[in-house]
Amino acid sequence: MANNEKKGFTHEKIETNSFLMIVLILVVVSFGGLVEIVPLFFQKSTTQPIEGLKPYTALQQAGRDIYLREGCYNCHSQMIRPFKAETLRYGHYSVAGESVFDHPFQWGSKRTGPDLARVGERYSDEWHRIHLINPRDLVPESVMPGYPWLEKTLVNAEKMPAHLRALKIAGVPYTDEEIKNAANDVYGKTEMEAMIAYLQVLGTALKQ
Ligand code: HEC
Repeated sequence: MANNEKKGFTHEKIETNSFLMIVLILVVVSFGGLVEIVPLFFQKSTTQPIEGLKPYTALQQAGRDIYLREGCYNCHSQMIRPFKAETLRYGHYSVAGESVFDHPFQWGSKRTGPDLARVGERYSDEWHRIHLINPRDLVPESVMPGYPWLEKTLVNAEKMPAHLRALKIAGVPYTDEEIKNAANDVYGKTEMEAMIAYLQVLGTALKQ
């Protein structure tokens, strides 16, 4: 200790100088962060879509927008963790390649209700319709709110082409044809139909 002091730079100096301490902590934490984060941008498993993953159709995408608007994510995650208890209940754990076309992704961690990552094809369209209008008609103890207006409101068709075009810029491989037809594809559909189309495709790309 005495020797070190003579050399002029000791650990004590860092510990007693808050500013120096903060700077060095930032350097160490940034380095640690970069080592963890940067490889994810280059790993195939996190940047490439899994085989068979298709971009959402215009109707499914419209449903997804309503999912965000209504704040369903406040109670539902879409991320099955790789633990036995989770995979037994929900199915195969989520992989990054399933959500590369999601902007923004809906993984989340808040689970007032069950995880929805693989809810697609689990129930009939009619089940979802009744459940979304009033969950208690099917699950008497449910605390999920009803969304009866979804059935009475039409999807905003005009904004869909621009929406798909924006997603294309973000890397979703929509064809010009799909973008051109986006408004027609959702024209006259209710928000309920869009929401159900979205829910029914969730997690179905990963074959188990
Ligand atoms: C206040 C919290 C809350 C909100 C907000 C909420 N839910 Fe739920 N949700 C629940 C709960 C709790 C359950 C379990 C009971 C039930 O099935 O109703 C559930 C169940 C579900 C299920 C059945 C899942 C399964 O595997 O059985 C679906 C599908 C669903 N919700 C979709 C939605 C959608 C879509 C929205 C937004 C429009 C939404 N939820 C908003 C709490 C919520």
